[in-house]
Amino acid sequence: MASLATHGDAHVDPLDVTRPELYRDDRWHEPFRTLRATAPVYRCEDSAFGPYWSISAYKPIVEVESLPELYSSQAGGITVADLMEGDIKMPMFIAMDRPKHTGQRRTVAPAFTPSEMQRMRADIVARTAEILDELPVGETFDWVDRVSIELTTQMLAILFDFPWAERRKLTYWSDWAGDIEIAKDPVRKEERRQILFQCASEFGALWNSKICKDPTPDLISMMIHSDAMAEMDQMEFLGNLILLIVGGNDTTRNSMSAFAWGLEQYPDQRAKLEADASLIPNAVQEIIRWQTPLAHMRRTATADAELMGQQIRAGDKLALWYISANRDESMFERPDEIIVDRANARRHLAFGHGIHRCVGARLAELQIGVLMEEMAKRRLRVNVTAEPERVAACFVHGYKQMQVELSRY
Ligand code: HEM
Repeated sequence: MASLATHGDAHVDPLDVTRPELYRDDRWHEPFRTLRATAPVYRCEDSAFGPYWSISAYKPIVEVESLPELYSSQAGGITVADLMEGDIKMPMFIAMDRPKHTGQRRTVAPAFTPSEMQRMRADIVARTAEILDELPVGETFDWVDRVSIELTTQMLAILFDFPWAERRKLTYWSDWAGDIEIAKDPVRKEERRQILFQCASEFGALWNSKICKDPTPDLISMMIHSDAMAEMDQMEFLGNLILLIVGGNDTTRNSMSAFAWGLEQYPDQRAKLEADASLIPNAVQEIIRWQTPLAHMRRTATADAELMGQQIRAGDKLALWYISANRDESMFERPDEIIVDRANARRHLAFGHGIHRCVGARLAELQIGVLMEEMAKRRLRVNVTAEPERVAACFVHGYKQMQVELSRY
């Protein structure tokens, strides 16, 4: 087992994988390799987020997620950062246990059925085509801002029927809501609180504008008119909306950026994909696996338990590192590589597993797949011209900016 090193006054456990710089500098691979090989269920005593268990292999993560009564999403929230006094309490079904979770998930699930995806497809294709046709070929630009953020934000604006001209607010709110590093900084925490209040009040106004109207095919109207809505108060309704904005925003955005950056690392795989567009659906899964846009989710033990020979105590916090499970050598051959025709790419855990498995997975797959199809139709290739700037966080795993140049093949 690795020993504790001392840096200045602070003890740093080299296997503490919550350190944001590991993600900012893309240095997370090595500690997770060690954890999987030597301690797939590892107790980290000392971290900026307090003590926690690191679950880093595929099998124990599936085990934990299959026992939602024992490993609660509600007891301590869904990230390694604890909820603190003064935080706004916005209940969201991702952080609820059964039976409440079941009823609230039911209010939004109808927006993500295969037939809804079919209905939305033409719109997504048109929006994607419009964005791609406006991009310069042979000039440098930021792929994150002009493609990944723009496409995801447009989609969410349609999904919520949010005022079109103000859609970038969705990006802004989502960036603030998903930043768990803020928990360490009281000034920024207060700023975040104000910003999320503003978000809640704008969605409250949108809700009021739809409440006495006939149903329309957007999520807000769908939620208002669903049977399960009777079980939800206004704070819960707003919490769930924020969940959808955050859930659907950074994750899909960072997968779209991973499409550009990942294939740049594996030009033979890019060539394979360019030669055969029928590989796109599998490549979508492979890119989501390779990126793993949410590095972890957290559970809290409700009773003493044993997990892979380790003694977990009631109240202990467990970080389920999807980012590491998706590189588990016992599950995926040559896991660090993108292999667009990988036979078991679909078995990745980037969407989680069990009762909380991502409700928006189909929409994410559709958006990323359409982007790849529309690029292929135009025979457009993204060439990344410089190392991207990454997000410094152990929750959202992604890119701040990425300079690219398009070419035709
Ligand atoms: C849940 C990942 C896209 C909405 C989750 C979970 C993960 C995840 C890891 C938690 C699973 C668990 O706790 O077991 C992703 C990834 C995406 C993506 C990687 C894109 C590549 C979306 C989209 C939406 C969305 C597009 C909606 C617009 C949600 C919601 C939940 C959720 C509402 C809570 C589900 C529940 O608790 O029952 N997602 N997500 N996600 N996601 Fe996604």
